[in-house]
Amino acid sequence: MCGISGYIGKEKEIKFLLDVLKRLEYRGYDSCGVAVEGENFYLKKIKGKIKELEGKVKSVNFYRGIAHTRWATHGKPTSFNAHPHFDCKREIFLVHNGIIENYMEIKKNLRKHHFNSQTDTEVIAHFLEELLERYKFKEAIFKMTEFLKGSYALCLFFKKDNHLVIIKKDSPLCVGKLKEGFIVASDLPAIIPLTDCVFILEDEEIGFLKKDEFELFDFKGRRKKINFRRMTLEEFKAEKENFPHYMLKEIFEQPKVLRNLLSFYFEEGRINLKDLNFSQKYLASLKRIFIVGCGTAFHAGLVGKYFLEKYCQLPVEIDVSSEARYRNIPLKKDDLVIAISQSGETADTLASVKEAKKRGAKILGICNVLGSRLTKEADGLIYTLAGPEIGVASTKAYTAQIFSLCLFSLYLAQLKKSQKESILNLTKKELEKIPEYIEKILEKEKEVKRIAKRFSKYGCFLFLGRGINYPSALEGALKLKEISYIPAEGYPAGEMKHGPIALIDEYRAVVCIALKDSLYKKILSNICEIKARKGKVLGIINEEDEEIKSLVDEKISLPSLKNFDLSPLLVAVPLQLFAYFVAKNLGCEIDQPRNLAKSVTVE
Ligand code: F6R
Repeated sequence: MCGISGYIGKEKEIKFLLDVLKRLEYRGYDSCGVAVEGENFYLKKIKGKIKELEGKVKSVNFYRGIAHTRWATHGKPTSFNAHPHFDCKREIFLVHNGIIENYMEIKKNLRKHHFNSQTDTEVIAHFLEELLERYKFKEAIFKMTEFLKGSYALCLFFKKDNHLVIIKKDSPLCVGKLKEGFIVASDLPAIIPLTDCVFILEDEEIGFLKKDEFELFDFKGRRKKINFRRMTLEEFKAEKENFPHYMLKEIFEQPKVLRNLLSFYFEEGRINLKDLNFSQKYLASLKRIFIVGCGTAFHAGLVGKYFLEKYCQLPVEIDVSSEARYRNIPLKKDDLVIAISQSGETADTLASVKEAKKRGAKILGICNVLGSRLTKEADGLIYTLAGPEIGVASTKAYTAQIFSLCLFSLYLAQLKKSQKESILNLTKKELEKIPEYIEKILEKEKEVKRIAKRFSKYGCFLFLGRGINYPSALEGALKLKEISYIPAEGYPAGEMKHGPIALIDEYRAVVCIALKDSLYKKILSNICEIKARKGKVLGIINEEDEEIKSLVDEKISLPSLKNFDLSPLLVAVPLQLFAYFVAKNLGCEIDQPRNLAKSVTVE
């Protein structure tokens, strides 16, 4: 979602700050702005992208400044609503990520103030202005945090004071040490190219920065120690290389990611989940599991549910985090909640985790971003090791999440002795082959591109799958709709006659996941029903399946697996490629689809 960059130090050109901000563009935004102080003060805000802002800003030098990309929540994407926001006297300038939940309440007591925007953020500037009537600057900052409710990463300055102030509560913020000065950002990849010396703020911390000084306090005003750590660019390398889009690059990275997982978590054929952190006794005694996640992570969780139920013989419940957090889930002490999140910063998932912890449940986080909030909240972790995922549409993180859930299920089944050793071993052996199979599927890139071209004229898509590939259908539909904006629905194929079949005619297309598993014959009947109604069918089929070829309009064939339970790992790939090429054909902005943000840090 929103992005923050800030700087204090030796004089720099304004472009420096905007370049840092650009490295956060992938998170999605609709407006942006910058406020810098040098010999003169300069503020510019626009609706649109950083490139346009760059074209409009004057070439000024500065020694203290803040910049922001905004993803609209309170108020439309306009230049007025863009950050930085300021007080009536135009002395306090601030950028903010998160949501101030009690902004209306605070605003009621600021009647004398003139507001320029509809945002919750602007209230902070005016509130601080009021506090400065009564308190000295630093005191006013501490006072302010007593009142603000919600989540906030703030970077601000007050013209009459010489600090750059950073405040973190429930939204990420980090600092990089430069030769002369400090750089601030809401995400590490933005600052890593400038320095390998970084500090990640904890919740409820306030930093006061000067060119050569960094003081850190907690919200109660107690001084804290600052331990900068070394982090290299290699750890965060996220170039597009020769790919036209990050999404395509990330689709192609999947074999490498899964090989990473194999080599990290497999030791001589045994699964060793190094950060799991739960005792074998606890895991073996588990009675049930609850899974939470949003969007793609939720779909990975659905695949995990099938796995855990079958291999570990455990009842598994799953819900999207936005529902789970408000449901009165009858969790018992020591139940296990698996929270899945690429970013580890998704507000709803974190809220469900907090809720579950209150009830005594233990949390297993399946997460991609080291040091993210989920990794701090969870009792145990499986890192998905996919590297930075920049494309807004999640691809490699999805297969890495499924893979991690498979590993966990196999490990748990072994502990619980809930499946035959021979079946577990066969599954492990086949898991090792998945990267190679995905490579074979990726060789079909051109074929998928051709098919996508043919199908991109359809105005509506159904994705059908059954069993463990029902989640694959949901994920296929999500990928297509989020980047091509074509309405697409995922359905369990068995539900077709209960409603969706009404949609079928010659203008609709149906993607059928029809692998030769135990439900194959049933999905074959669905395909006949669609064809009888003139619908166009793209089949995701097995290589050696001759029977189905004459029934479908187009097909993408996959290597055959001995264990179909692993097939979601393969099915995901052609569906990602298909969505990618349809969107490309339609000229859509693939890496940053409209209205979407990479990590949804607000509710
Ligand atoms: C879809 C997509 C989103 C995310 C969802 C959860 O391609 O990217 O649906 O999967 O917002 O995000 P994380 O995994 O960061 O919690």
